[in-house]
Amino acid sequence: MLVVIIVGLQFVPVHRTNPPITWDINAPENVSGILRTSCYDCHSNETRWPWYSYIAPVSYFIASDVNEGRKHLNFSEWDKYDEKKKEKKLDGIIEMVTEGEMPLPMYLMIHKDAKLDTVRINILKEWVKPGSSKEESFGIEKNEEKD
Ligand code: HEC
Repeated sequence: MLVVIIVGLQFVPVHRTNPPITWDINAPENVSGILRTSCYDCHSNETRWPWYSYIAPVSYFIASDVNEGRKHLNFSEWDKYDEKKKEKKLDGIIEMVTEGEMPLPMYLMIHKDAKLDTVRINILKEWVKPGSSKEESFGIEKNEEKD
């Protein structure tokens, strides 16, 4: 019976898409390496869909994390946020990683290399800090350049 259910589940459609990248966040290499390793699977349109993401019911949870994650924060569609929202997302990133809420614990169980230590967290903090390379990195205009 269980076998029948599990086989049956494989026919339920799961949305595993990688939509087009409209604007990728422009971070220095040391930062983008961290984001790509730890965040891009759920917060970009460059998700690496592993083999187990094709097997129900695991596939439902993975697809749901990715779709939810993208809805909240998508580095590949950074151009869709206005300046205020960009600032808010950046603050959110620092908050989430400082509190250890991101990457999601479930994800870390499988992706050990995605775990953030204090060195990596500090690199992210430095990057977002006011007066950093913020303007180019985040597509946030400097005040004096505004029309
Ligand atoms: C396994 C998937 C997954 C990974 C990996 C992941 N996230 Fe998330 N993230 C989510 C989901 C799902 C949500 C929305 C639900 C929630 O807040 O728990 C979210 C929400 C967020 C939010 C809240 C955005 C907002 O404004 O509402 C931030 C910020 C965030 N993640 C940052 C990160 C950062 C930074 C990383 C990498 C260090 C990361 N996440 C890695 C799945 C993930």
